[in-house]
Amino acid sequence: MKGIVLAGGLGTRLHPLTKITNKHLLPVYNRPMIHWPLLSLVEAGVRDIMIVTGGSFAGSFLQLLGNGREFGLKDLHYTYQEGEGGIAAALSLAEHFVDGDPCVVMLGDNIVEHSIAPYVRDFGRQEGGARIVLREVPDPERFGVPEFDEEGRIRRIIEKPSSPPSRYAVTGIYMYDAWVWEVVKTLKPSGRGELEITDVNNAYIERGLLQHSVMEGWWTDAGTFNSLLRASNRVAEREHERPFDQFLGESAATR
Ligand code: G1P
Repeated sequence: MKGIVLAGGLGTRLHPLTKITNKHLLPVYNRPMIHWPLLSLVEAGVRDIMIVTGGSFAGSFLQLLGNGREFGLKDLHYTYQEGEGGIAAALSLAEHFVDGDPCVVMLGDNIVEHSIAPYVRDFGRQEGGARIVLREVPDPERFGVPEFDEEGRIRRIIEKPSSPPSRYAVTGIYMYDAWVWEVVKTLKPSGRGELEITDVNNAYIERGLLQHSVMEGWWTDAGTFNSLLRASNRVAEREHERPFDQFLGESAATR
């Protein structure tokens, strides 16, 4: 299983903070934001990871993360996104790295309370296709939102709907088989001029190949001032109870 952290974008919703650094390098409590999704992937047993970044501060990722030794990794892979193209465009840059393997993609501004290992395990037991992770939220209109049929299957996902068809958000944790690389090549820019990950997921739904998990525990993005503050507060609370990275010490001997 390959892992990809998407950490590009201009982070305009966080201006002026993002005028002098990449959004994913801003602090979320005691670590730079990108550490949290990276820790989530490593904790779930993913060892082969690529960071997709872009913009003027891409070099800082190498400075910060190096070969990922701090995370118990042998090395880390990087690629550079020229310009702004959206999440699916950023993902497409990882095709050669993933090389036909199944992959788990995590948005660099998504932070979760608990392990993502159960979702990755369930995806591993699936016969191909894709898996997304949903979380009930008070403000679904900010996200991709699933519409369910009578049997509780996802009929389609709507990106930032003004009247959300459910109370769930599609979180930024996505798992795909190799068909994803064909799908991303067929995408057309959306109204906001981006290749949308929601269109990728809808393509899987149309083929009957999308499964989903529902997340336990909290989940937050961190791309706005409010969500960045919330992310820091939640992480701080959790870190005081049980530091999320303690598994690095516990399992260092096995790596
Ligand atoms: C993106 C996706 C959206 C998803 C969200 C999760 O939104 O487009 O479907 O629910 O991430 O964080 P964005 O952060 O680009 O507005």
